[in-house]
Amino acid sequence: MRRIVIVTRDCAGVNAAIRAVVRSAACYNVEVLGAVRGYEGLIDGDLVSLDSRSVSGIINMGGTILKTARCKRFRTIPGQKKAVETIKKNKIDTVIVIGGNGSLTAANILASKYSVPVIGIPATIDNDVNGVNMSIGADTAVNVALDAIDKIRDTAVSMERIFVVEVMGRDCGYLALRAALAGGCEEVLLPEKSYDFKDIYKSVVDGNIRGKVSWIIVVAEGKAKAADVAKKITKITGLETREVVLGHIQRGGRPTAFDRILAARYGNYAVELLKQGKKGVCVALRNDKLASQPLSAAIRVKDMEVDSYYRLIKILT
Ligand code: F6P
Repeated sequence: MRRIVIVTRDCAGVNAAIRAVVRSAACYNVEVLGAVRGYEGLIDGDLVSLDSRSVSGIINMGGTILKTARCKRFRTIPGQKKAVETIKKNKIDTVIVIGGNGSLTAANILASKYSVPVIGIPATIDNDVNGVNMSIGADTAVNVALDAIDKIRDTAVSMERIFVVEVMGRDCGYLALRAALAGGCEEVLLPEKSYDFKDIYKSVVDGNIRGKVSWIIVVAEGKAKAADVAKKITKITGLETREVVLGHIQRGGRPTAFDRILAARYGNYAVELLKQGKKGVCVALRNDKLASQPLSAAIRVKDMEVDSYYRLIKILT
């Protein structure tokens, strides 16, 4: 009987992906284990058995039922060797890693340095996995940020204020760009774009002269801090500002239908790839078609289309 282990990070839709892997594996009589607290569990041999019943009722839950951690020990050679020992000792023939850039980078180390068969499933609110249109969790995060922006707009309009809203995304502006466009925001500051900040302050002043009294400016955390931008706007324009940092609420919550469906497709496809004997690969979605690519390609810096979306935000402001 074949045996696999699942290693996860957390974001909305990860539990739906665990469920999809476990139940798809059951169709092929493949036994599934879960590493508790991500790579920490793989290093310590802290593994739990997962069957079809143990994943019932989790499709709508945020986070990961397996728990997770940022694992500093995996960055060391002894940590990596201990993880490989656990894999050998438990007669695990494939590791399925569900996570973002950091988790997939570790997965690539297992595959390339220690010849461990690994299959990756992209799951991150940052949506920064290269060669993949959508990672699990990104759609939910955009909707959470959008819901917050809609609520902030109520006060922005009523009190005639400028709000600067900081969103997550690490070095990727995907979340900021999508939330800003969907939220009808006036400006978005992205890591992928260079700005002359003077132009931004000038556009606020010019807008104010024309009678504009409220703004929502979205700032990607990888570009600037909301507090700094808000302070500068007040200093230069004399207008009152408030800053809001959305933080981890964007990573939690019930996954959207899109993320649950993506998780079902990715999880099932990962098991199909396993059956085909594929290793060292990451599942992907391109033009709604499932595909796979080497893990080494998935962890490269993603070239994200920014300009057309940014232009649209500016036209519609
Ligand atoms: O990679 C996902 C993410 O939520 C980023 O958007 C954010 O910068 C980071 O993780 C936060 O990490 P932590 O939960 O360790 O503070």
